[in-house]
Amino acid sequence: MSRIFSGIQPTGDLQLGNYLGALKNWVMLQHDHDCIYCVVDLHAITMWQDPKLLAPNTREVTAGLIASGLDPDKNIIFNQSQVPQHAELAWIFNCVSRLGWLNRMTQFKDKAGKDRENASVGLYAYPNLMASDILLYKANGVPVGEDQKQHLELSRDIAQKFNNDYGVDFFPLPEPLILGEATRVMSLRDGTKKMSKSDPSEASRINMTDGPDSIAKKIRKAKTDPEDLPGDPKDLAGRPEAANLIGIYAALSDQSLADVCTQFDGAQFSAFKVDLTELAVSVLGPIGKEMARMMRDPVYLDGVLSTGSERARAIAVPILGDVYDIVGLLQSQS
Ligand code: TYM
Repeated sequence: MSRIFSGIQPTGDLQLGNYLGALKNWVMLQHDHDCIYCVVDLHAITMWQDPKLLAPNTREVTAGLIASGLDPDKNIIFNQSQVPQHAELAWIFNCVSRLGWLNRMTQFKDKAGKDRENASVGLYAYPNLMASDILLYKANGVPVGEDQKQHLELSRDIAQKFNNDYGVDFFPLPEPLILGEATRVMSLRDGTKKMSKSDPSEASRINMTDGPDSIAKKIRKAKTDPEDLPGDPKDLAGRPEAANLIGIYAALSDQSLADVCTQFDGAQFSAFKVDLTELAVSVLGPIGKEMARMMRDPVYLDGVLSTGSERARAIAVPILGDVYDIVGLLQSQS
């Protein structure tokens, strides 16, 4: 059975892109795979995080995973900082990965912005830690949204270089699993920009904890174009907002783009938005409510993370031990 690993940052509200690009696929994969899902708090602190909010945000994302349908007994669900082997393997990968590789990472360029000199070293080395997350468990499948593809290619490069440098066939080359009809959910205000929790405009995204009124308002205000909806997905070319809203509908209803286009062929956006709102509320409403309920029980959530971390360490410790042996680091025999 192949092993699946994926991660999500506890940096604020979960949004629809996280759900459709990642969580929904994680839930689907849990039935046939051995899955490890990590709340990556060490990645989060590559940008400033208020220490008072980091633990509550970690719990909230954990609640989001469970409320979306992940079973914490079947899957390993944990937070990264409770398994120190992630940071240890990341150091070794800092010595395998090349500056030239990291210099090409577009996420660093976007996040560091113009003031690159002032970005943290952690933000720059972020993809090495991500490679360590995956390879620490020798995972072969990594379900992510489109935006993480470049980081996964780097993880493969690191795995391959490690194997070559040390003359071993130790790490598998992890495959990105970019699944569903909404692998890159775009902002509701601008169909050319990714939907993101860091966008300053609240109206640009649907949060997983938004209530029905808020969802309805954001969808009503979502940017569109003057034409009616097309009957064929090919005619979505050059219409980013229409493509985004139809993609969201398709992913939320588990249909193909072609089926949704057939269903709404010639419809006006106003009518389509009414149906999209109803669908989004029916999917996200129960998840948001369940998250709110779980957030009132931090002891339960902390227990899930602590048990998950213990299970993760049981896999990670021997693999890291093998890595230390391969690299030639002297270890105590006791
Ligand atoms: P993060 O926390 O930004 O996002 C978590 C997951 O949500 C997906 N996603 C989206 N998918 C489609 N459309 C969007 N608008 C959208 N926004 C977010 C992301 O692709 C991701 O799958 N570096 C990762 C976390 C990470 C990780 C890992 C992932 C750390 N270690 C190891 C996989 C394996 C990140 O920042 O995701």
